[in-house]
Amino acid sequence: MSTTLTPSQQIKLTADTEVVRSYLDNVTRPPKLTEAQTSLVLEEIGDLLSSKQAKIVAHYYTDSALQDLAEASNGFVGDSLEMARFGRDCDAEILVVAGVRFMGETAKILSPDKTVLMPTLKATCSLDIACPIEEFSKFCDDHPNRKVVVYANTSAAVKARADWVVTSSIALEVAEHLSQAGEQIIWAPDKHLGAYIQKSTGADVLLWDAACIVHEEFKARGLLDIKAIYPDAAILAHPESPSAILEIADVVGSTTQIINAAKTLPNKLFIVATDQGIFHKLKQVAPDKEFIVAPTGGNDATCRSCAQCPWMGMNSLTTLRDSLRDVSNVIEVEPHLITQAMIPLQRMLDFAVTNQLQVKGKA
Ligand code: 13P
Ligand code: SF4
Repeated sequence: MSTTLTPSQQIKLTADTEVVRSYLDNVTRPPKLTEAQTSLVLEEIGDLLSSKQAKIVAHYYTDSALQDLAEASNGFVGDSLEMARFGRDCDAEILVVAGVRFMGETAKILSPDKTVLMPTLKATCSLDIACPIEEFSKFCDDHPNRKVVVYANTSAAVKARADWVVTSSIALEVAEHLSQAGEQIIWAPDKHLGAYIQKSTGADVLLWDAACIVHEEFKARGLLDIKAIYPDAAILAHPESPSAILEIADVVGSTTQIINAAKTLPNKLFIVATDQGIFHKLKQVAPDKEFIVAPTGGNDATCRSCAQCPWMGMNSLTTLRDSLRDVSNVIEVEPHLITQAMIPLQRMLDFAVTNQLQVKGKA
């Protein structure tokens, strides 16, 4: 059973707050490169990767050129759980994490002896912003009997306060495990993912109130309109989407689970409710299939994200080249936070192994 928050417990730091808006003001889109400039930067990065024993770990939402480069240079592209595993297991001295800040911090926590760089340290996440450690810690203190489960999209300090860290690919299984053990749960920060796992598992969940600004924009009414035009299309949705979207989705899953569904389902057409960056891999794994972006609130200039994470978009070949060349944008996590945050992260990774959950992130 889920528990409704009383006003005093309810912490409103959702996508519409001034806090998130002030971070969005700092978003810069990298300039487009010509073909000649691109070849030159790729060559420079190739040389730097070899001379510095570095590997690129990229998320599916980053620019397609970064995804291709990560794979072509023996690095990795994956969902956030797989990125964490690959970073930990690979033998590089330097990891360049193309994604958002929590992904860089997770890599550092799991590989404290590696140097972890990011193309930009300004690439954050609305979920991370909306879960500041002081308020969150107090919230946990107010509910001491509950197991604290936090999404990977949080700061190192929030992870250090948790009993479990989960990503979208393992959230359901962990919630089920805790529920079967009779545990009550605090779930933070994503209210949509939390509500989804509560509904699917029946677990007793107390929700934090935050959302992803990208997924929150998907609209069920528009989705149903498209489905009416293409009745044979399957709807694939990331669980950060609102419940009205998840209820009509054929598959709900992490980015990798969405890609696997596109590969294995017999449908020829898919409507995809997640960041558009994933379309690059979807087209690679299922070239004979077609993909439509799920409708968002507004169109072009009137939508806030248009299914494109503004922070993921800050990663580019040039910013990656610069950070690698200068060894700049180094992720630093305080040693005591590394020690504490490692515990719930390791618990998740061990749980994935014990339960034989499919994770492809092998170095
Ligand atoms: P995945 O773990 O599914 O890759 O999701 C990360 C994320 O930030 C989605 O918005
Ligand atoms: Fe965060 Fe949403 Fe961007 Fe993922 S898509 S990094 S959850 S803001």
